[in-house]
Amino acid sequence: MKSRQAKFKEDGFLVLDGFHTPASCDALMKRGQELAASFDFKGHPSVFQTDQQTRTSDDYFLDSGDKISFFFEKDAFDQQGKLKGDLFHSLNKVGHALHDLDPVFESFSRSPQLKQLALDLGLDDFLIIQSMLILKHARIGGVVDVHQDSTFLYTEPDTCVGFWFALEDATKENGCLWAMPGGHRTTLRSWFKRKAGGGTEFVTFDPAPLSMEGMVPLEVRKGTCIVLHGLLPHYSLPNTSGRSRQAYAIHAIDGKARYPEENWLRRDMSGLKGF
Ligand code: FE2
Repeated sequence: MKSRQAKFKEDGFLVLDGFHTPASCDALMKRGQELAASFDFKGHPSVFQTDQQTRTSDDYFLDSGDKISFFFEKDAFDQQGKLKGDLFHSLNKVGHALHDLDPVFESFSRSPQLKQLALDLGLDDFLIIQSMLILKHARIGGVVDVHQDSTFLYTEPDTCVGFWFALEDATKENGCLWAMPGGHRTTLRSWFKRKAGGGTEFVTFDPAPLSMEGMVPLEVRKGTCIVLHGLLPHYSLPNTSGRSRQAYAIHAIDGKARYPEENWLRRDMSGLKGF
């Protein structure tokens, strides 16, 4: 049998069933709901738009690297600026330092099994730089267009690795991930970075569109961990079903790689911790 590392190198992703227990997934979702309930959003609604061209670039987003911040679904507000539904079901995601700031998220993020996995994959020097609770509510959760995670966490050389945890069963109906085995053997297309005068921009490295050919649905059970290579193109469709599809994702980079200041996500790099 191939080692986890060999399989990851070959496919650009790794699906590990039963990585977390259903009980620890439930505890994480419960904590997410508690955090959302404490969010006083009046005055600074920040809409997280997954369409790359209109991705919000406001200060709330750019300042969220070392905080627990809340991002709304694109259509959460009506014409008058009022929430159409309840607060929790209007949110798209929560991020980006849950793993360092909240004890429940921290213990889920720094589990013994993830530490062992990082060792197995040769990532023991890596640092966790970002975390996101992705809500993908029933009939509400929107599309995430095809992208490479390294676009958003750019290092020199490229080192970004994602760990995506299914907190609920993920199927084609409720918007599971899609990726192509071996799809990571390609170039990094773009870098989402801060512009000199404020705001953000995509800088193109390679104008070739990301291929959608050979994409397969990664339908997984609650508790599964999917490891994603930073160059692997992946996407998810809207959740048109009656079942929610919560997931939690963390991203890590090699502490030895250069992390340019122009990255959208800013952290005190000396304070970053590993697994
Ligand atoms: Fe991604």
